[in-house]
Amino acid sequence: MTSVIDGKLIAQKTLDQIKKQIDKIKYYNQKIPTLSVVLVGNNPASLVYVENKKRACISVGMKSIEILLPEDTTTTLLQNTIIKLNTNADVDGILVQLPLPKHIDSKIIIDTISPKKDVDGFHKYNIGALALNSPTICPCTPHGIITLLDSINFNYPGKSAVVIGSSNIVGRPMMLELLNRGCTVTVCNSKTANITSFTKNADLVIVAIGKPKFLNKQHISSNTIIIDVGINRLPNGKICGDVDFEDMIDIVKYITPVPGGVGPMTIATLISNTLICYNHNQNKEKIIQYE
Ligand code: GUN
Repeated sequence: MTSVIDGKLIAQKTLDQIKKQIDKIKYYNQKIPTLSVVLVGNNPASLVYVENKKRACISVGMKSIEILLPEDTTTTLLQNTIIKLNTNADVDGILVQLPLPKHIDSKIIIDTISPKKDVDGFHKYNIGALALNSPTICPCTPHGIITLLDSINFNYPGKSAVVIGSSNIVGRPMMLELLNRGCTVTVCNSKTANITSFTKNADLVIVAIGKPKFLNKQHISSNTIIIDVGINRLPNGKICGDVDFEDMIDIVKYITPVPGGVGPMTIATLISNTLICYNHNQNKEKIIQYE
C-alpha cells in the first residue's frame, strides 16, 4: 500500500498557523509583514509562480509588493532596485524570481540581497550557515520537503537518502538539510553513470531534474519514500512531475503527487520565511547574527 503525501493539506496547515500570527500582529496595530517579489521579463512559468506567491501572501494577511521589470533590465539596474529594497524598512523579505534573463549575472544579484531579507535563503551567508549546521533562513523547496517528511514522522538518522539533481535551489541545500539530520546522502547529477545502483538501496529518493516521468519502478525497491520536485508541462498541456506516479503507486511506501505535493509546500515555506525575516528585522527574535 502506498500513501500519498498531501502537500496541499500540509501547506494549508502551515499557512493557517501563520495567518493566526499575522492576525495577532494586526490586532496590536503593528507593521504588517511585507514581501517584495521582483520579476524580470515575462517568462510564462515565472509569471504563474509569482502570482501564486502573491496570492499566498494575501491569503495570510501579509502585504505583497510586486516589481515587474522589462526583459532588457541590466544587472546594475536590478542591483540598484534591490539596494533600495534592502534599505526600505517597510520591506521584510525580498525574492527575485529565477531564472533571470541570460544577460543578468544571477550570482551578483543573489549576493546583493541583504541576508536578513533573503526569504529564498540563497545568499552565500545563509547557504554557508546551513552548510555549517547553524541554519538561518533555509531555501524554500528543500525546507518544505523537510516539513513533508516530518509530517510522516520520517526518522532521519542513518537513513540512506538519494537526491537526484544538484541545483543551488533544490539539490545542494536538500543534501545539507538531510545531512544535518543524520542521513547518509548521495547526490546524483547528469554525469552519474548508474543512478539505479544508488536509488535501489535508498530509503528516500528526491528527484529535482525537470525531466517528465524520469523515475520509474525499475529504479527503486519497495518501501522507498519518493519526493517529486519536478513540474513539467507535457505537449498535451498537462502537468507532470519527474516521477512516473502511476508506475510507482502500490510499490513505494510514500509518494508526493504533482501537482499538490512539493509545490504548495514551497510557497508555504516562503511565507514562513517572510515571517521569520519580519520577526528578526523587528528585533523580536535574535535568531540571525550577521555581524
Ligand atoms: N525559480 C524556481 N524556484 C524558485 C525559488 O524557489 N525561488 C526563486 N526566487 N526563483 C525560483
